[in-house]
Amino acid sequence: MSSSVKVVVTGAAGQIAYSLIPRLVDGKTFGNKKVDLSLVEIPQVVSKLEGLVMELEDSYFPNMGDVTYTDNFEEASKDADWFLLVGSIPRGIVYNGKKIEERSDLLSINGGIFVDQGKAIGAYGKENAKILVVGNPANTNALIGKDAANNNSQTWLAMTMLDSNRAKSVIAKKTNNNISDVSNMIIWGNHSPTMYPDAENVVINGELGSSIINDMEWIESDFIPTVQQRGKAVIDARGASSATSAAKAAIDTVIASESPAVSGECFSAAIASDGSYDVPEGLICGYPLITLDDGTIEIKRDISLSDFAKSKFKISIDELISEREAVKHLMK
Ligand code: NAD
Ligand code: LMR
Repeated sequence: MSSSVKVVVTGAAGQIAYSLIPRLVDGKTFGNKKVDLSLVEIPQVVSKLEGLVMELEDSYFPNMGDVTYTDNFEEASKDADWFLLVGSIPRGIVYNGKKIEERSDLLSINGGIFVDQGKAIGAYGKENAKILVVGNPANTNALIGKDAANNNSQTWLAMTMLDSNRAKSVIAKKTNNNISDVSNMIIWGNHSPTMYPDAENVVINGELGSSIINDMEWIESDFIPTVQQRGKAVIDARGASSATSAAKAAIDTVIASESPAVSGECFSAAIASDGSYDVPEGLICGYPLITLDDGTIEIKRDISLSDFAKSKFKISIDELISEREAVKHLMK
């Protein structure tokens, strides 16, 4: 085995984690590296992880290294290369007598988790650690965590890959293509109903969506709302928020973040804005991203946005600004 990687997963006894964790050690996500897992839960359920570890041992994963579990996040963080921050409350449940309807309702419930976790990551994670926030509201949780970490050599991402995968599926059906023919499906903005899935810059069999999908009515009234509301549609149908598709999207994000980009190709995740595309600096915003040969992740800056796209994107940027305002008491 070439080398090893240490991965911390929070919310390890939850729904997403049950699909996610086996895929981290299957020899595909991190190639031929040995994968050490550090699984984190809250004290009330941490003992359940004993059962998960038993199942992992029983599954014969040749690339699996040391597997530990704890309710002590600081201890788990030491020298970790990757942090998959899934642990948080999903919507669709009743919390303190109130049904959680919108991801933004989770701001006050989940935001606080990311202060302490961010501090620990900044202090104990590897200097080149990558952090993927899955727990909602993912963008603003990542904003809080990155601020608390205070370590600019680490890379914080929030997950929009699930939205991108959903959008690829809708585009493939609309254009009678296979999903594998659809690439560069950019999700601009927030992982929320304001996100802007970009049907103009998506690439279908090597051609831009703007030259293939000549149906603005469909884009505006069907495609965009379908992608924006898909999380809710899954909750309504399943009685629980998406889990296996979310796990697959987290794996896709890790793979894209570990693999140097093929020329011209990009993947979707939210990252701290450097002012690109007129987004206020620091907001954790959904962008087209590329991974460089040394593992650095950069915003792809050569995408043209139509006036229609800019107006949709602005709605999501404004929402991110208001979320930042709502959590400013949690930030330095
Ligand atoms: P779940 O309720 O099944 O599991 C969450 C787990 O997190 C629980 O086991 C809980 O004990 C644990 N947890 C809570 N606080 C923790 C903490 N401080 N440290 C460690 N663990 C903690 O929920 P799920 O279905 O796995 O979803 C998890 C989160 O992911 C939710 O917020 C959900 O909304 C979000 N989500 C995001 C996306 C996305 O695309 N970004 C997609 C799907 C779900
Ligand atoms: C999703 O998009 O499926 C998740 O963010 C869960 C949710 O609350 O929608």
